[in-house]
Order: sequence, then C-alpha cells, then structure tokens
Amino acid sequence: MCGIVGYVGTNQATPFLIEGLTKLEYRGYDSAGIAVFDGEKIIVEKSVGRLASLKEKIAGHVPQGLIGIGHTRWATHGRPSDLNAHPHTDCSGDFVVVHNGIIENYLSLKEKLIKKGHVFKSETDTEVIAHLLEELYKGDFEAAVREVLKRIDGSYSLVFMSRNDPDKLICTKQDNPLVIGLGDGENFIASDIPAIITRTRRTYILNDGEVAVVKKDSVWITDREGIPVTKKIFEVNWNAEAAEKGGYEHFMLKEIHEQPKAVRNTMSPRIAKDGASIVMSELKWTREYLDSFEKIFIVACGTAYHAGLVGKYYIEKLTRIPVEVDIASEFRYRSPIINDRTLMMVVSQSGETSDTLAALKESKRLGARTLAITNVVGSSIAREADQVIYTWAGPEIAVASTKAYTTQLITMFMLAVYMAGIKETLAPERTRELIACLREIPAQISEALEDVEPIKTFAKEYGFNEDVFFIGRSLDYDVAMEGALKLKEISYIHAESYAAGELKHGTLALIVEGIPVIALATQKSVYEKTLSNIKEVKARDAIVIGIAAQDDNELEKYVDHVIKVPQTDELLIPILAVIPLQLLAYYAAITRGCDVDKPRNLAKSVTVE
Ligand code: M6R
Repeated sequence: MCGIVGYVGTNQATPFLIEGLTKLEYRGYDSAGIAVFDGEKIIVEKSVGRLASLKEKIAGHVPQGLIGIGHTRWATHGRPSDLNAHPHTDCSGDFVVVHNGIIENYLSLKEKLIKKGHVFKSETDTEVIAHLLEELYKGDFEAAVREVLKRIDGSYSLVFMSRNDPDKLICTKQDNPLVIGLGDGENFIASDIPAIITRTRRTYILNDGEVAVVKKDSVWITDREGIPVTKKIFEVNWNAEAAEKGGYEHFMLKEIHEQPKAVRNTMSPRIAKDGASIVMSELKWTREYLDSFEKIFIVACGTAYHAGLVGKYYIEKLTRIPVEVDIASEFRYRSPIINDRTLMMVVSQSGETSDTLAALKESKRLGARTLAITNVVGSSIAREADQVIYTWAGPEIAVASTKAYTTQLITMFMLAVYMAGIKETLAPERTRELIACLREIPAQISEALEDVEPIKTFAKEYGFNEDVFFIGRSLDYDVAMEGALKLKEISYIHAESYAAGELKHGTLALIVEGIPVIALATQKSVYEKTLSNIKEVKARDAIVIGIAAQDDNELEKYVDHVIKVPQTDELLIPILAVIPLQLLAYYAAITRGCDVDKPRNLAKSVTVE
C-alpha cells in the first residue's frame, strides 16, 4: 500500500501535493517524493523517511509549477531509500510516474528494457513503467500510456506526467484505489478521499481498467480501449477523520476488511501462471540447500507466534522437515540447540519487535542461516536476516493484528508448498489442488466477512461475560489461541485457549453453567474427537458457539450456535476460521466501550525487551 496524489490547475501544485500526502501517510511512510513541471522541466524531489524529511529537504526551494504528482511509499520491491522513492523517471527525465501496487512481470520487462539501452536507477518494480513509456512514446502521450498498460501485469494505481504534454495528468487503476477530485479550474487525483476532502467533495471514483486524462478544467474518462465511460459524480459526505479510515469506525475494522486484498497481494505474484507451483523468486532454494538443514526454528511474538504454529504444521506436513516453534522472549534464555544445520525463521509484522530481533541475532551468532517473514521492507529484522519474504499486507495501524496474521499464514503455506516442490514430498496433483484452493481464499474471506450480523448479536449477548474459553484440536487449536488473544487485547475479557483434548486434565473444572466456549471444529481429521470434547463442556452447561466448515451438518446438533465459514482444504481453513473470531473480538470491544485501536497498556510495536 502506498499513497499517490496529483494536481493540475491554476494554483501552485506543491502545497496540495504535500497536504494530500500528509493525509495519505497512513498508507505508507518509509519515503516520499514529488515531481512538479516548472514550465521547462520536471523537478523531482525525493527523500527516505517520513514526509517530514521531504518537507525539510524542499524547504527554501519549494518546486514551483501548476502541475505535479506525489507519492508516499510503503516499500515492496527495494528497500526504503532516496533512489527507490517515487516518482520514477525514464532515462530522459521527460516522463514521471507514481505507482501504488505491484508489477508482477517487472523483471522480464526490465531485462528487455536494459537490452534496449535503458539505464535503471532504482530497485523498484515501478521504474520499468517510466522506461516502458519512454520506449513506447511516438508523440502521443495517451496512446503510449495505453500501450504500457497492455504490457504490465499486476495491481496498480498509476499517475503519469509528461514534459511534452504539461497540461494533463493521465491516471488509471487495477485492483488499487484511485479517486479524482473535481475542483473549480483545478482537479486533484489521490489514492483515497482524505487527501482531497478539504479541497472538494465532488469526486469520480475510478473503476478497474478506466483511464482518465485530467486537465485543469476537464476530466476525460475512457476504458482501456479508449471507449468513453460515463461516470456519476460521487459526493463525499463523510468527515475527514472517517475518510482516513475509509468510512470504517476503526482502523482494526478497516484492516479486517482489507484482508481479501492483502492476501491477494501476498499470494498472486507468487503463484506460477499455470497454477502448478509456487514461485518464491526471493529465495531460489535448491534441494541441496534444503537437505542441509536438520531442523527449522520459527520464532516470533504474539500473533506472529500464532502464525508460526500454523507454519510448523504446514512445513512438517508438506515437507517432513522437523520444525520447532518458540516465543522470542523465551528462545534466547533456554540455550536452544542451534548450529549451521539450522534454518531460523523469524516472523514479525513490524520487523522491529526487539525480542524477535534479539532471537534472530542470537541464532546468527550460533551459526544458523536465517529467514525473516515480515511486512515492513527495510525494517531491522529484514536487514538483519540473510533472506526475507515480505507479506505485502500494507501498513497495519491498529494494535490488534489482523491482516498481518492472515498474510503470514498465506506466506507460511506458500513457503511450505514451495519447499515441498523442491523436496518432491508433495504430488503434483495435490500441489495443483492446494493452489486452486489458495486462489479461492480472497473471495472466501470476503464471504466470511459478510456473515457479521450473528457475530454482532453474540458480542452483545456474551460481551459482558468476564471469562471465555476457546477450544480446538490440531490447526483449530492454533486458531483458538489467536482468537483468545484478539479478544483479550481489545475487549479485556479473560479469554483462555485450550487444546480441546487437554480440558479434562484440569481446565474442565472452570467450565460452569453459562460460560461461553468458542469451539473450533473445522479439522476433519480430528472432528470426532473435538465433538467429544464439545459434549464434555456442554454437559457442564457451557454456552457453546461452534465454528465449522460450510458442509458441516452435524455440529449444530451439539452446540448452541454455529458460525460457518466457506469450504476449503483443511490446511487453509484457519485463514477463514479466524475471520469470525476477529469480528467477535471487535464487536465485543465495541459492546464494552473499549478503545479498539489503542487498547490499554499496549503498543503497536514492542521495541523494548
Ligand atoms: O510486529 P510483530 O509481528 O513482531 O509483533 C508481534 C506482537 O507484538 C503482535 O503480534 C501483538 O501480539 C499484536 N498486538 C497482536 O494483535
């Protein structure tokens, strides 16, 4: 996720560009840049760090001009740096572009462009677009943009500016948002409404594939082939604060709803076109490399640790390599057996969690080879690890982690399938089957998100209980842990997760009449066993809410309520089963009047031991 803006009009462009980017900083904040046409040439100013660094850099020589574009970055390809910051230019400096998204075929395009003599300055996927535009430009800016669009694959919202046509900006989108604000003698472009809301409330919301030519007094919108599109003006009636959260009341709810898109971003560039394998171009592992490990460690904290538990299951099941999972704050202090035959994987959304970073450093000191799974490009953990897989979930602002968890699960799953492909431990037909299921996940998350009314009712009904239990077996137990953590941290309800089979060894003593028990029963391989444990708590008059797969017609006979999640492979169902638990935690917190995005005593990133 990045933020992009554009301005064309009769006023100076820079003040709007900076103001707009400030409002979009929640979309990314590792570097920022602007490009303004000064009447002769395009001036580009970029700076690594938050927008404040860019403001400082241009203070005293603010670019002057009536047309410009800007960008605030959340790095995906290439670490945060001045060079990797947008806008990106072609060789001549006549074309500039800002981009939000991922160009999946950028490497092959880059190779071809280099062969034709183009010189690249950054490590980004975006820069290929500027060079491609230069290559395809035959005197018609708009025609060249359309040619570029025919050649790029992936997700994007884009704004282009050309020195040869300094009266217009061209913008387009595919799977990423873009809005055009209609002013009086001036027009605005932005990733999101908060950037323009103080300037205008009259907007066009672009649809995928639409191309807009934006001048100071006109906006001309066509489809990708150039056929005009008639659009309705959308009048924004939210206030600025609501707009920043995309109309949602809290960042947590917004991020819960961003999950279909976030997991699509994580997976789609890594699925081979024929759906037969997973491509991890960042790793390039070989059989020999994998065989050199006796053991894998997965080390993390909080939600990332819960994702690690699911990762262990995936890797062991699909590759038969032994995996040990540890809490980062425990790992270092128990003399772990680590050597050069160990692969250490650390998982961290922020890439800054101090315990995880310390565990990573310790394992390196002991000779392990290291891999980080993180969301933040250029973070301390990303820099420290030998290799990195980015989850590409976009910035997560709410303290309670949601989209980070589901994208970590997707990453772990893809990694396990990738490793199994190398080790030949998974039959090709089974690989195809799993990848086909994986592709359905974004749409299935959307489906699970629609079923919110019963969850709101449960939250109201049970939100004032002081104790809740979460039970499950196998992967359901891992998800139960995450469900309990979510509920605890934002609603302050005492929530305990238990391996369902372990209840009778003590915890069952706490199950009394009316106590809510959330029972996950999505794993067919242990279904009957879980059912027995559910009967045990029901016999003690607990109120049981079951979480089951769509095709389950059995569970409802034994529990008080059932929430069903879409049908998928047993391995992937945790990614769907966690959705109602996230929503339950959210609505329970609302019922109790808690500050959802900023729970008491907690910080988003724990950078102290
Ligand atoms: O940034 P990290 O993934 O390393 O953070 C780890 C935990 O602090 C984090 O997952 C925490 O448990 C969340 N608040 C849970 O929602």
